[in-house]
Amino acid sequence: MDAPAPHPVVTLDGTSGSGKSTLAQRIAAALGWSVLDTGTLYRALAWGALQAGVEDLASSADVLAAMPVTHFRPNAQGASILVIEGLADRAVLTRDAVSDAASRVAALPEVRQALLALQRDAALAGPIVAEGRDCGTVIFPQALVKFFVSADLEARGLRRAAQLGTAAPDAAERLAQRDARDQSRASAPLERPQDAVDIDTTSASVEACTAFAVAKIRERLARAR
Ligand code: DC
Repeated sequence: MDAPAPHPVVTLDGTSGSGKSTLAQRIAAALGWSVLDTGTLYRALAWGALQAGVEDLASSADVLAAMPVTHFRPNAQGASILVIEGLADRAVLTRDAVSDAASRVAALPEVRQALLALQRDAALAGPIVAEGRDCGTVIFPQALVKFFVSADLEARGLRRAAQLGTAAPDAAERLAQRDARDQSRASAPLERPQDAVDIDTTSASVEACTAFAVAKIRERLARAR
């Protein structure tokens, strides 16, 4: 069994576009905690591999060799920002080519293993809200609260299309493809943790979801004291 993190950890796992990043930011702001955005770590790795011209994205050695230098730095709001050396415009990370490559490199067990310690170390400095696909199942199995965030594919497609300025049906199709890859891979697939608390963001407001999550976290913190 893994040793518990020294500070409280809350995890949010869920599909692409489910709203977990927004929710993680809001929850962290309400509590004064940091955010560990694990998806950005995989996106940074994918971006580095594409930049370096790695031809075979299934070669974990080549992909890891192209990993840009990264570290976490708190911003003014206390959120943990992943600093990616050599990347001037972070918007690049949400482009379809990078999203697609991120989902591919995230399927490689050696890659996941290499990023594990970096992600766990983020909990050493203070309390965090960790969001991704395997935060509650693999990275922090002893988290105080594990949320599983979901939303209908149609709603997720609309959100992603608004973000990228593309057509909603195309965005939904790409999301469905990435979900299928994230859920069917052998290494740490996206799974609902057994003891998860569900949040469906399809028609609930961000404020309502945040209030629900924060109340649940405060309840568990009080019980743990
Ligand atoms: O959350 P996101 O869309 O930024 O994640 C990008 C990709 O990284 C996604 O296809 C799945 C992968 N990922 C993962 O496998 N494990 C995580 N903890 C976070 C992201």
